[in-house]
Amino acid sequence: MRTHLMAPAPRTDGDADLAVSQLCLGTMFFGTDIGRDEAFRILDRYAEAGGNLLDTANCYAFWAEGGTGTESETLIGRWLADRGMTGRMQVATKVGSGPARPDESYHGGNREGLSAKRIREQFDMSRERLGVERVDLYYAHADDRSTDQVETVEAFAELVAEGSVGALAASNHTTWRLDRARAIAAARGLPAYRAIQQRHTYLYPRPLAVPAPDSIQLPATDELLDYVAAENLTLFAYSPLSGGVFDREDRRPPGAPVDYDHGGSQERIATLRRVAEELGATPGQLALAWLIARGPNVVPILGVSSVAQLDEALGSLRIEIDEPTLSRLNTA
Ligand SMILES: NC(=O)c1ccc[n+]([C@@H]2O[C@H](COP(=O)([O-])OP(=O)(O)OC[C@H]3O[C@@H](n4cnc5c(N)ncnc54)[C@H](OP(=O)(O)O)[C@@H]3O)[C@@H](O)[C@H]2O)c1
Repeated sequence: MRTHLMAPAPRTDGDADLAVSQLCLGTMFFGTDIGRDEAFRILDRYAEAGGNLLDTANCYAFWAEGGTGTESETLIGRWLADRGMTGRMQVATKVGSGPARPDESYHGGNREGLSAKRIREQFDMSRERLGVERVDLYYAHADDRSTDQVETVEAFAELVAEGSVGALAASNHTTWRLDRARAIAAARGLPAYRAIQQRHTYLYPRPLAVPAPDSIQLPATDELLDYVAAENLTLFAYSPLSGGVFDREDRRPPGAPVDYDHGGSQERIATLRRVAEELGATPGQLALAWLIARGPNVVPILGVSSVAQLDEALGSLRIEIDEPTLSRLNTA
């Protein structure tokens, strides 16, 4: 059965522009590991099912075989033009995590960061590759503690003021840094981040190092979930299937730097599989349904490499989790 059930996700308060479908489509490996034809089929199917937000970045996927970091945005631009979807499908892209010097090793601080100059120049390049006048949702891809947050906030605000960006969001930020950026914007009467994109899945990671590493991958903490609820933001959950570990015996939970590979994960996976069987769902479908049911305002970003995987993910929206089942899943 085909699925047409992309009910709108809860909206960010007062944010008429950020009306997104309940599942966002990730496109990290489109144009690299996932070739043009399969990527177009996935995009077609997602649009047909009522999905309305694509997630990309200015650096996807520079680390893939043959990748330079421009492939995903370029492929999306071609699909939007080819299918007449420009302006009809919303696009989210990001700045800040690409290599500052592409020919050098990525490690050791070689990240482009969030200076006003980088934001402006990278934004223009993203827009050109995507072939759009306006980017619907523009992210700070990862925090940059070496740039004054006021400079970053003002640079993003300029893009909104000139009508080039619909809404702003952050990714891979600790809660206190996200709150500080939002407070800086509020104090100046500038548009603030209205959503956060963080790693979020049914599994819990081991504690991170303190102080938080200047890592590009930060998990959604319980404190962040509380903040999202209190401030009525939207949480975009990336890597929601933990690389396919719920459905596949050949996959292990992701390891360091965000380490889910521990005994607690095995318990969670076993419970998820048992409950999924009882509900007549796949474990991956239940993992997505759990993210949405637990909330608050969570929109999973799908990472799929085939139409079959996308169809399976869409099936998660048919699953209803009652309170006792939610409690069983939460306490596993
Ligand atoms: N902001 C950030 O820093 C950040 C970081 C990472 C990702 N993201 C975004 O989030 C999106 C998703 O991330 P992700 O790819 O890491 O997601 P994920 O949910 O962890 O993993 C997706 C992988 O799970 C496997 N899978 C999917 N459906 C399956 C199914 N039905 N059965 C078995 N295995 C299945 C596939 O592996 P195979 O392809 O091997 O089959 C797929 O590539 C990205 O495209 C990107 O847009 C953002």
